[in-house]
Amino acid sequence: MFPIRIRGLRFRPNGRAVLDGVDLDLAGEGITLVLGPNGAGKSVLLRTLCGLITPSDGDIDWGGGRRPASGVMMVFQHPMLLRASVLENVSLAMKPLGVSRAERQRKAADVLERVGLAHRAGDSGRHLSGGEVQRLALARAWLTRPRLLLLDEPTASLDPSATAEVERIIREIRTDGTRILMTTHNLGQATRLGDDVVFMSAGRVREHTPVQRFFARPASDEARLFIQGELPWRMSF
Ligand SMILES: Nc1ncnc2c1ncn2[C@@H]1O[C@H](COP(=O)(O)OP(=O)(O)OP(=O)(O)O)[C@@H](O)[C@H]1O
Ligand SMILES: [Mg+2]
Repeated sequence: MFPIRIRGLRFRPNGRAVLDGVDLDLAGEGITLVLGPNGAGKSVLLRTLCGLITPSDGDIDWGGGRRPASGVMMVFQHPMLLRASVLENVSLAMKPLGVSRAERQRKAADVLERVGLAHRAGDSGRHLSGGEVQRLALARAWLTRPRLLLLDEPTASLDPSATAEVERIIREIRTDGTRILMTTHNLGQATRLGDDVVFMSAGRVREHTPVQRFFARPASDEARLFIQGELPWRMSF
């Protein structure tokens, strides 16, 4: 499945260039942060990789083949929960894989333990806080052992301690061998989690570089202004 080679990827709904010729190579390891201003096309890129959006043009080569039928999972900023218990919300993710109910429940309980939600297993998924919902969604994705996990602003509305907990889980999923591609507007988070940064604007990848180099020596004025626009807020604490 790796390396993933994206060439000339375009998405032009109604003639408007939302993705305007994305070129990107993704090797098989690590956490890649997709950064860029609102509307740059970050979420659309993730949705295209996940197969939810059909591009108008361009190629995605998945390690020499087509997109694998399984192995790619996406966690959305606002995950959908079923009207069921926390345990059921997680264990049902394995149903299409043909795993027995007992085995599903055992594995779901195990992964809930790892994300710190074991004590909520019997509660309704509807009664979870925002941070707990994100942890449940990460558990649900982790359970299927994806090769590539796409995370769209996984901590967007979380407080600092919930954010730290989600970051811990993301690191563990990566250590478990899953390749992660995620968006965030939290530049502190990008430096804490990221191995490399993909900087997007106006539907294109402008720069793909190791995280330290991106923040120390961004390649373009645009990236420098983007970083500066965020830094005063981050450093005022
Ligand atoms: N399915 C779709 N069909 C048509 N246009 C879309 C679709 N999804 C997103 N867009 C448009 O594409 C543009 C880029 O959207 P996208 O959500 O990828 O931005 P983003 O970089 O994730 O921004 P943000 O930082 O605000 O999340 C926006 O103008 C959006 O309205
Ligand atoms: Mg987005």
